[in-house]
Amino acid sequence: TFRAALFDLDGVLVDSARLHFVAWKRIADELGIPFDADDNEALKGVDRMGSLEHILRLGGRTLDLSAKEHLAARKNGFYLDALTTMSDADVLPGAAALLAQARDRGLLLGVASASRNAMVVLERAGLSNAVDFVADAAKVAHSKPAPDIFLACVTALGVASDECVGFEDAAAGVDAIKAANMVAIGIGDSQVLAKADLIFAATAEVDLDRVLRLSPARPQ
Ligand code: G6P
Ligand code: MG
Repeated sequence: TFRAALFDLDGVLVDSARLHFVAWKRIADELGIPFDADDNEALKGVDRMGSLEHILRLGGRTLDLSAKEHLAARKNGFYLDALTTMSDADVLPGAAALLAQARDRGLLLGVASASRNAMVVLERAGLSNAVDFVADAAKVAHSKPAPDIFLACVTALGVASDECVGFEDAAAGVDAIKAANMVAIGIGDSQVLAKADLIFAATAEVDLDRVLRLSPARPQ
């Protein structure tokens, strides 16, 4: 049986992709690199430096590490400014209910986000008390698709990987969940998330009973 449910944050619990996009768009504009909402799709689940590198690739540009660090920090400044406007209105439909229902079923709840701002986002969204543990992306060695951030939740919650189910909206995140030997629930496009064990179109569509009837992963 499942003992823990682990959630990606951006795109699963909170609608923050737009705020990330606006911040990256300012950086791309400064660099003279065309960047639109479609380009932004590729940045879902990708960490800050990886996202910047993707934008630079789009523009055929290379920069040295200190220039990249400067831009990544500038983007984060824009994003943090935008977060001051975030509220519980930015919680995705059904997300608060899903967390409450999962807790009600006795599951431990963890957040496994690539965002180093996960704690701030959860606080702004009014969800910090709705979960038991928030993994710190700054403390893991490898970002998604590596399993590290999900395994950080496993350690902190005192459960085994095969007792967990993970929820993700990004392909790299589904890969991370599978690499951690967990059941993966995809939220979004069934083609993008084809490797998930079960897919729902949106957080509001998640049927937790159906999820909990899935067989957990086999112990490794
Ligand atoms: C999430 C988002 C990405 C974002 C990443 C890092 O995975 O989906 O779009 O780039 O977090 O966020 P951060 O807040 O650390 O810059
Ligand atoms: Mg996400």
